[in-house]
Amino acid sequence: MDALKNVLSKATNDTATPPQPSPEAVSQLKEKYASAGQEHVFTFFDSLSAAEQAVFFEQLSRFDPVYINDIADKALHPPEDDDTAADLEPLPESARASILDSSPTDINKWYESGLDLIGSNQVAVVLMAGGQGTRLGSSAPKGCFDIGLPSHKSLFQIQAERIRKVEQLAAKKAGKDKVVVPWYVMTSGPTRKPTEDFFASNNYFGLDKDNVQIFEQGVLPCISNEGKIILEAKGKLAVAPDGNGGIYQALIVSGVLDDMRKRGIQHIHAYCVDNCLVKVADPVFIGFSASLNVDIATKVVRKRDATESVGLILCKNGKPDVVEYSEIDKATAEARDPSNPDLLKFRSANIVNHYYSFSFLESIPTWAHKLPHHVARKKIPALDLESGELIKPAKPNGIKLEQFVFDCFPLLPLDKFACMEVNRADEFSPLKNAKGTGQDDPDTSKADIMNQGLRWVKAAGATVVSEGGIEVSPLISYGGEGLEYLKGKTITAPAVLELEKA
Ligand code: UTP
Repeated sequence: MDALKNVLSKATNDTATPPQPSPEAVSQLKEKYASAGQEHVFTFFDSLSAAEQAVFFEQLSRFDPVYINDIADKALHPPEDDDTAADLEPLPESARASILDSSPTDINKWYESGLDLIGSNQVAVVLMAGGQGTRLGSSAPKGCFDIGLPSHKSLFQIQAERIRKVEQLAAKKAGKDKVVVPWYVMTSGPTRKPTEDFFASNNYFGLDKDNVQIFEQGVLPCISNEGKIILEAKGKLAVAPDGNGGIYQALIVSGVLDDMRKRGIQHIHAYCVDNCLVKVADPVFIGFSASLNVDIATKVVRKRDATESVGLILCKNGKPDVVEYSEIDKATAEARDPSNPDLLKFRSANIVNHYYSFSFLESIPTWAHKLPHHVARKKIPALDLESGELIKPAKPNGIKLEQFVFDCFPLLPLDKFACMEVNRADEFSPLKNAKGTGQDDPDTSKADIMNQGLRWVKAAGATVVSEGGIEVSPLISYGGEGLEYLKGKTITAPAVLELEKA
């Protein structure tokens, strides 16, 4: 946490000191906060230096306290939404496909058409990397994390190399020298500067700097359990990123959408930084989504069993939606698929891996403000207003306000939404927890990549002796292709296959 605070203040220190506000401007702002019942934020204002006052004034001016009260109140008292009474159905057959049981002909058709779209420079990638990764406990952004592969590549590097490889595959198919898949990396106050530094010091992982745009999502003040905006210092509000749903506002405000328009982008893949197996700009997914002419498509994995704690993608009251595991009753969770009783009826686990049409993203200004905020109860270091001391609470003392990226799904008619089931072992392994947790941690991430590589090289006809898996560089193979040169070879695991050795 201390390290994270350092990152925060470093990012803040890098901005130039704002101009000194006039006494009238200060009293107007005080009045604004006072009339919203938030005047306590000025408790220490007069004790600050002129420069500190200017910085704090600038931060306070960025928020409308009435709006903050309003969204906090709505988040704390959401409308009654009784999912046990809701009409829940799986998405219609026509909006679903599964890599697990689709015909190879269909999968190949989607792959080829997706690659063509990439080859005509119509595909972009948006990465959601604004989270603070509190469970992982690393002070650096999650994408910088080394999961312990033999190559010690970071998550950012793995993803960048997949982009480079898919660009090469598409260029080859299109008969072009170069194809570009622009990469838009969403960060937040705490992650922007260290992310920018990491990309720069790693030379953008071999991508062209002009095709990587790092942008920043918004933040919102943290609120105490009593509804008061929390101070983290005498001249600083405690703020937190506004959730992965902040992506929609950020795409507009940061100019990403304008850049996409200029480049003629029509299809967008958006995903989370912590999935080490993510198939960035997956041609199959792009081809599938584009062929259905949908506005949003989402990848899902098969829910392991009725008790797995995952959100479900389904149809709720006739609209596409995500329903959390805690919101459905046991009978619904355990219901079997009438057409195949071996399977759960509701089995589409949400992995926050989306396709968007560009035209849908262009409609963001008409609906983004309607997305609700949700409450995340957290332990938030807070300044004691009597003593001026920073208190680190032992239990949650307040809330962070977050929007969820999937809250816009119900805005779409069913025929504009689709879902593709993918193989978990090939496409989903999130890094959520600290080493040693045993689940969704650096060791499981590493093992999932090493095991995937092992499957690929064996399928290519290599013999693998010893244990430990194979790390296959994405620059050699995007999804298991291109490994024919290994046929008949013997590899001693653990091993890493890098480009120069190919
Ligand atoms: P999580 O909800 O798992 O959060 O994010 P996190 O920050 O990674 O980890 P914890 O909960 O603090 O331990 C899922 C994805 O959404 C992104 C994250 O970077 C991750 O890719 N995210 C989350 C954002 O981009 N912005 C946010 O405000 C929150």
